[in-house]
Amino acid sequence: MSAPAYGIDLGTSNIKIYESGKDHIFLAKNMIAIKNKNTLFAYGDEAYEMYEKAPMNIHISYPLTNGVIADINHMQTLVKCFIGDLTHDNIHPADYYISVPHDVTEVEQRAFNDLIKNAGVKAKKVMVVEKAIADGLGMDIDVKNSQGVLVVDVGFNTTEISVLSLGGIVSSRMIKVGGLKFDDAIRAAIRKEYNLMIGGKSAEKIKMSLRNLEDQGASAVVYGLDLVSGLPVEREIPTELIDITLKECFDSIVDLIKVILERTPPELAADIYRKGMYLTGGACQVAGLDELIADSTGLNVNTAANPIGSVALGLARVINDDNFKSVAYSFANKGEA
Ligand SMILES: Nc1ncnc2c1ncn2[C@@H]1O[C@H](COP(=O)(O)OP(=O)(O)OP(=O)(O)O)[C@@H](O)[C@H]1O
Ligand SMILES: [Mg+2]
Repeated sequence: MSAPAYGIDLGTSNIKIYESGKDHIFLAKNMIAIKNKNTLFAYGDEAYEMYEKAPMNIHISYPLTNGVIADINHMQTLVKCFIGDLTHDNIHPADYYISVPHDVTEVEQRAFNDLIKNAGVKAKKVMVVEKAIADGLGMDIDVKNSQGVLVVDVGFNTTEISVLSLGGIVSSRMIKVGGLKFDDAIRAAIRKEYNLMIGGKSAEKIKMSLRNLEDQGASAVVYGLDLVSGLPVEREIPTELIDITLKECFDSIVDLIKVILERTPPELAADIYRKGMYLTGGACQVAGLDELIADSTGLNVNTAANPIGSVALGLARVINDDNFKSVAYSFANKGEA
């Protein structure tokens, strides 16, 4: 009987955990609420519920910023809480498979490894899988035998664009554009056009309902603070304003995809052309992004069936299929001596 194993995708907004033997992915907001500077008050979805509503003495934050760990202590606390919840506080020694972004420093990558080791979750071994490789596996691509696979992961804080071949990464770039930037742009546009201040959650709601609204030919109804009267109001915002606003954010993603494609060796580019690119990450679902990428690059766009879970699903394949074990590596074996 092999040791239990966990596959963890530490996303900036969502933590996803696969537990061996289960056929679902645990998903929670990667957020922590601290009261009076040092007392754990809430975590996960509960902390998120309080976000933008809590009194001054409760500080709510994301321990990851731009895809890397910004607050190691809080992140360790969260990992311990989530694994504790999954095991009903009966944590057994287990193997951990974690995903790390490629386009960061080795120190930043190692921080993920050290975090798990020191989180008090009885990690027997910590194995690392590059996030884009896990994404590919999670989208059912046989990354080990495929040549020229373009993966675009549009997350909360970041978009990572990678070219994979034969189980490795040929090139990868990360930019600080993702769902949060889309929300911020929507807020700024509504403030400018309507003198209306709305919260981040309201902006996210508009972003997520955009496709439905457009299908129905309806406007977005928002509640916020009128900056002239200082009073709470309800307003109807035409989806055209949101489209124009988002297009500017989308353009920076398209531009980077083009840069990566220009630098891709021709044989791999030919493979990418034949298969099309693979689009994933929660924010890839925003209306208009897939069409814009397809139109601007001339490539087919394959969108993940489960964009939020694709990295964790890939980690699950590494855990369950010996054929894919070789894409995982250990920092312990990378030789610190
Ligand atoms: N249906 C949807 N339509 C549009 N956007 C969505 C939808 N569902 C989720 N999102 C957005 O996806 C983002 C979260 O995606 P994801 O969980 O992949 O990010 P993350 O892994 O936490 O972040 P990162 O990879 O940048 O560290 C949020 O910005 C959220 O608003
Ligand atoms: Mg992510």
